[in-house]
Amino acid sequence: MQQVEIADILARHGEKEGGLISILESIQAKYGYLPREALEEVAEKTGHALVDVYGVATFYKAFSLKPRGKHLISVCLGTACHVRGGPQIAKEVKRQLGIRPGETTPDKEFTLETVNCLGACALGPVVVIDGHYFPNVKTSMVKGIIDRARDGLDKVEVDKDARVFPIEVSCARCNHSLMDTEHKLDGYPSVRVTVSFGQKHGWLELSSLYGSYNTSSKYEIPENTIVNFFCPYCNAELMGGSLCSECGAPMVPMIVRGGGMVQICSRKGCKGHMLDLL
Ligand code: FES
Repeated sequence: MQQVEIADILARHGEKEGGLISILESIQAKYGYLPREALEEVAEKTGHALVDVYGVATFYKAFSLKPRGKHLISVCLGTACHVRGGPQIAKEVKRQLGIRPGETTPDKEFTLETVNCLGACALGPVVVIDGHYFPNVKTSMVKGIIDRARDGLDKVEVDKDARVFPIEVSCARCNHSLMDTEHKLDGYPSVRVTVSFGQKHGWLELSSLYGSYNTSSKYEIPENTIVNFFCPYCNAELMGGSLCSECGAPMVPMIVRGGGMVQICSRKGCKGHMLDLL
């Protein structure tokens, strides 16, 4: 672990923009766990007591104090997923990987955990790998999902990818629907917002398929640009208070029809999106 990398993470977050949780999320994203030296440095540099830093690190299940495999597989065994076959999915994942929950494969590729709810009960049984949601999983799909994770989950084939499913969203400020039925992306109504970056201000359409990153916009947005999002109806700024665990940019929350929240990273090209369905 390089001290300079932790200093870099701390500098990116700054005291004003994000709290301890966001800092720990970034460290966890970088190393796959929270090394002891990193927690000590966070405590020293932010002025938090070490015991408080450990308190946060051990309170949230998303954080791990032990090294994890390259990929984290979370199988939901919450009530909704349980009644739809979650235990059979967990059994099949254990069989395929040869490990039990809490363990890591000898090649350090996979760590398995079971969780009580992943916030997407309507889509159960749910498996999440490295933040990618796989809804309505069947035991026959498990091997394919694991193989896909091994090859890398960044590439999405929108027409056949099990992670991709449509959602409808509305503004988190005025609750007006953001769906644009006139302009489709990936064959579904797009999500239309207004954006600004530099001196430019115009519309941006996002694919409403969760897992697809297709967009269309009035102006070409350069990679890595942090874009300001606005509601086209109430004109309110849509940036929320939390920061992307991948890159530290502000997240943009939107309300999901049917209950829940989706948050997308405001940095062009970053895939740090989060879905939390009720
Ligand atoms: S019970 Fe599985 S996502 Fe909620």
